[in-house]
Amino acid sequence: MTGITGLVGSGFVTALLLDKPDTQFVCLARGGKNRTAMDRVVEAVKSECEFEGTPERFDEVMSHIAVVDGDIVSMDPVAIAALPECQGVTQVFHCAADVNLGKDPTGRTFRINYNGTENMLALARLFHAKAFHYVSTAYVAGRSRGVSPEGEVPDNGFNNPYEESKFKAEKLVRNSGFPFTIYRPAIITGRRCDGRIRKPLAVYRIFEFIAKKKSHACAKLGIDPTQPVDIGLHFNVVPSERVYFSPIDYVQYAITKCFQLPVTNQTYHVTGNSPVSTLMIEEALTSLLRLDNVSIGTGSENSTEKRLIERLLGDLFPYFSADVTFSQDNITQALGADQVNWEYGSDGLKKMMVAFYQDFFRHADWVRALMAEQN
Ligand SMILES: NC(=O)c1ccc[n+]([C@@H]2O[C@H](COP(=O)([O-])OP(=O)(O)OC[C@H]3O[C@@H](n4cnc5c(N)ncnc54)[C@H](OP(=O)(O)O)[C@@H]3O)[C@@H](O)[C@H]2O)c1
Repeated sequence: MTGITGLVGSGFVTALLLDKPDTQFVCLARGGKNRTAMDRVVEAVKSECEFEGTPERFDEVMSHIAVVDGDIVSMDPVAIAALPECQGVTQVFHCAADVNLGKDPTGRTFRINYNGTENMLALARLFHAKAFHYVSTAYVAGRSRGVSPEGEVPDNGFNNPYEESKFKAEKLVRNSGFPFTIYRPAIITGRRCDGRIRKPLAVYRIFEFIAKKKSHACAKLGIDPTQPVDIGLHFNVVPSERVYFSPIDYVQYAITKCFQLPVTNQTYHVTGNSPVSTLMIEEALTSLLRLDNVSIGTGSENSTEKRLIERLLGDLFPYFSADVTFSQDNITQALGADQVNWEYGSDGLKKMMVAFYQDFFRHADWVRALMAEQN
């Protein structure tokens, strides 16, 4: 498998081992600054076991993992396939990706997501793998509107190079000749029980930006940040009624269960069926952080402030104006309606925001004070 150091991959390993304790993983992972690939895998698995409230599982989980040092772009599949650790591999689970939603001036996102998948398919061929599992994204739908099917989607243009690279990589998998399963989460957020997430990505940048903005504005004006303040925020997006947040525990559960089904070239929307609206998100955030006068919509003046927000967060805006519905037929058949039809709603939004600020803004006294009022 690839991607074990990431949010989705680490959760997949711990969950699959609970269901199938005899599974052996060979994980292709990268080293980092002064850290080997093994160091980084150990760190991710430890952090995941702690996050799940089962730190005692760490040794057992690690005893099922062999680590191979490699980058999915630059690796030599022939050399990797010849390693002793890789003998007897039966299935490939390819989860690694560059999840950067911004521009791709150097082609890095494309190389990792497309060429990396090409390389993983080459490796799977050398393994004579029985199946190829690919973690994609529901947003391969790109700029499509209406219902997006749980199968091949049309090319209606994309919001960013990430979506396009994932769309093209999916195509590679579909045309590879391998029996495949494709998993498509939407925007991954904290778990349903308490809103927490091990590694906040994407949408969390907005929450971080707004809290920092209020801190700076209040410091500059000498105002107490626990009080309601107008920090002059405008988001230049057409609000959506269909923002799909996929709680990490659901993503982990759904992928792990679907992985264990017979591999019959299925695609699953791991999005849930309870989108929220952009205005619900705005309401939850403004009431939590006590912000006055945050506005959403098009047509405001072209200020320096607006350009700054667009530069820092503009890559996320398409997800708050999307008008697409992710079909749930396959996933409902696989998991049952009772597992798929959970409700996100305002409570879910508040829970995940409070958890984020409690876990990642401990240093800010005013944020801590406001979150404490929520408990
Ligand atoms: N997070 C979301 O909201 C979301 C939503 C929909 C779909 N997805 C999909 O879910 C999958 C997992 O993403 P995630 O959320 O777990 O993101 P993540 O936490 O950033 O994990 C990405 C993983 O890919 C690995 N990786 C990246 N480039 C690599 C390379 N060149 N060689 C080897 N490994 C490489 C990373 O390793 P390093 O630790 O070495 O960087 C990490 O393990 C991706 O396919 C993504 O497209 C994610």
